[in-house]
Amino acid sequence: MKYGEIERQHKELRGTMERLRLVLGDPNGSQGTDLLAEARSLESSLREHFECEEEDGYLEVVLESQPGWSRRVDRLREQHRAILLELQQLGTLPFDEVPAGLRHALDSVHRHDIEESDLVSEAVTVELGAAD
Ligand SMILES: [Fe+2]
Ligand SMILES: [Fe+2]
Repeated sequence: MKYGEIERQHKELRGTMERLRLVLGDPNGSQGTDLLAEARSLESSLREHFECEEEDGYLEVVLESQPGWSRRVDRLREQHRAILLELQQLGTLPFDEVPAGLRHALDSVHRHDIEESDLVSEAVTVELGAAD
C-alpha cells in the first residue's frame, strides 16, 4: 500500500485548505480569487486522494484488523461521495453564496479528515495492544 503517498496527499490537502480558509477569511482576499476554480482544483485533488484511499487498501487495513468496524469504514466512503458532490454543486450556487458554500465544504473535508485519522490510528492502537 502507498501509505507514504497517502500521507503526502493529506499534508498537501491540509496546506491547500489552510490557504483557502485564509482567502475566505480576508474581506478583500476572495475578490481577486476565482473561488469556483479553486473548488474545482480541490475537487480533482480530493477525487484522486479518495480513489487512492479506497483502491489502495488504506481503509481495508482497518477492516483487516477490526472486521467489526465496517460501518465506520462505509461511512467514510459515503463521506467521500458527499464531499465531491458538495464541491461540484458550488457551481450551481448564486455567486454571492459561493464563499459560504466553499467554507461549508472545507468544514466537511476537515471533519472527514479527523474521523478518518482517528479510525486509522485507533485500528493500529487496538492491533498493537492485541500483539502485546
Ligand atoms: Fe478519506
Ligand atoms: Fe484522507
